[in-house]
Amino acid sequence: MEVIVRPTAKSAEELTAKIIAAELIKKPNMTLGLATGRTMERLYDLLGQKCKNEGLDFSLCKTFNLDEYVGLAPEDPNSYRYYMNKNLFEKINIDMRNTHVENGIAEDLDEECARYEEMIEEAGGLDLQLLGIGRSGHIGFNEPLSPLTSRTRMVPLTKVTYEQNSPLFDNPEDMPMLAMTMGVGTILEAKKLVMLVTGAEKADIIAKAIEGPVTSMISGSAIQFHPDCVVILDEEAAAKLEGKEDYAFAVKNSPKYKDFL
Ligand code: GLP
Repeated sequence: MEVIVRPTAKSAEELTAKIIAAELIKKPNMTLGLATGRTMERLYDLLGQKCKNEGLDFSLCKTFNLDEYVGLAPEDPNSYRYYMNKNLFEKINIDMRNTHVENGIAEDLDEECARYEEMIEEAGGLDLQLLGIGRSGHIGFNEPLSPLTSRTRMVPLTKVTYEQNSPLFDNPEDMPMLAMTMGVGTILEAKKLVMLVTGAEKADIIAKAIEGPVTSMISGSAIQFHPDCVVILDEEAAAKLEGKEDYAFAVKNSPKYKDFL
């Protein structure tokens, strides 16, 4: 794993956008795994700007989102499909038929989860999976006790996640407490993982995920198993990392990232 700490959230987002853009330029028909949450909003804005101003081309790119709330229709302003259309897809030249988010109102939800896995496989697997981390330690919606081998499935959400995400709903009680999410195993099969974490409220959980033991209690810790994983943080999120200075020293000579710094 490589850890890159930038002084501000803005510079962390800019670096993440550059890394994603470089991968897309290398492989224009890449399969890109996407995440939601407040952390990604400005990153998606930057990707929109790169498409508009620098000609970054998404026309051949396929996307798969990590997760969706069960019971929310795509048109619901709180659904992740709606979030993605608004925050990214409407800002880039992607073919909407190439964008995928689990269908939270599918008649047969288990079948929908299985179908999602099949579609990822048919697309040749994920080339890059973008990740954030929730305060419960989740990646996607893989709440504590999610098996490290889990696949796309339904997961009941925890109280911590309710406290984190319900303020985004007009009426917090409308937040569904069940979600569909790619599994930890699904995520670990992506060829590359890029995690973006900003803000002081994430300092404790990201330190545990990066430096603590790998445990299904913190699904974010599973990224330690991945052979090609970069975590980009701002100073606030990195505040509790014991090895912060070592990582900063090492990354200056990183064959993969030194040219991005
Ligand atoms: C949601 C998503 C996660 C995301 C998390 C972080 O719970 N399911 O994939 O990482 O939010 O949210 P935020 O960026 O708002 O802190």
